[in-house]
Amino acid sequence: MTMAPDILDIRKVKNAAWSQGAVHDQYSYRNSHSDLYLYINQWSDMETYLNVGYTRWWQRHSSTSNHLRLIDRLADALLALHWNSPHRHDRRLLDVASGRGGAAIRAFQEYGVKVTGVDFTEYNVRRAAANARKQGVWSDVDFQMGDAHNLPIADEAVSLAWSIESPAHFKDKPQFLSEINRVLKPGGCLAMSELLVVEPVAKASDANKEIYDNFLKVWDVPYLESRESYLHAMQKAGLKVVQVEIATKYNLSIYKRYCQWFLALCKYSSLYASYKRFIREKLNADLDNVREHSLHSYRALNAGMIDYGLFWAVKE
Ligand SMILES: C[S@@+](CC[C@H](N)C(=O)[O-])C[C@H]1O[C@@H](n2cnc3c(N)ncnc32)[C@H](O)[C@@H]1O
Repeated sequence: MTMAPDILDIRKVKNAAWSQGAVHDQYSYRNSHSDLYLYINQWSDMETYLNVGYTRWWQRHSSTSNHLRLIDRLADALLALHWNSPHRHDRRLLDVASGRGGAAIRAFQEYGVKVTGVDFTEYNVRRAAANARKQGVWSDVDFQMGDAHNLPIADEAVSLAWSIESPAHFKDKPQFLSEINRVLKPGGCLAMSELLVVEPVAKASDANKEIYDNFLKVWDVPYLESRESYLHAMQKAGLKVVQVEIATKYNLSIYKRYCQWFLALCKYSSLYASYKRFIREKLNADLDNVREHSLHSYRALNAGMIDYGLFWAVKE
């Protein structure tokens, strides 16, 4: 695959305010961006799942099953690939940036795959371990601290890996992919879901560049890859991409509508003031922060500059 070098230019569009500490803080309820999780936790189990899910029009989005559908979508195609690989009887999965453990636990309970989860936020690793114990799967699903850029896993140790909606936070996504290539056995399989920038839209005008910058800031993301730059990076890392799905209409478009409704509600100032008090008392969350977050997410999603991609690849 030959690619024009300018597809890599999007990596130069960086969030100057990003730091690894901010990502830790977001997932440890220590910065203003965490209020979103406290708020959404009313409908979805954010103490177990930290992804936007996958919902078709007849299914309910604000529920735990939404998260499970995304996990199942990734798992079904990953295991179909694995079935045709030389390692089909080796059923151990590496979950990179495993969050609060929901996806790893699902992988074991639904697919009988033993899982090692790695994440660099202490709060999430502890929470994931507590969730696994509560579900009685701790001996088959374990979690450890580690960085996706330097995985605490031996060379060619696993035949299955995934990373769900996490690489967006990684400072160097090609480095993460080269780590995946290092730890996978030849013929091993990867599934990944990820936020993607639609580069021509994000760069179309100064106004769009600002919208994009604000989106990166509220999500504590250093930069985003595009679909094209990921294909290039995977190939360069030695991973052969076998399937790609742009799933935006099954998650981000729905999230965009929720943001739109919420922002419309925020316009009624007296209603907003009492709702804000209620949310503070009930959830200990600051609704102003949720509004700020929703506004910047809505603007970027409405402009069509963010997509949601699913990728499946095999180590060559
Ligand atoms: C949106 S959550 C997704 C969690 C999980 N995959 C899920 O679907 O529920 C992103 C996770 O990435 C983790 N993370 C971010 N940067 C990381 C890095 N460099 N190394 C390991 N984990 C990281 C965060 O701590 C957080 O748990």
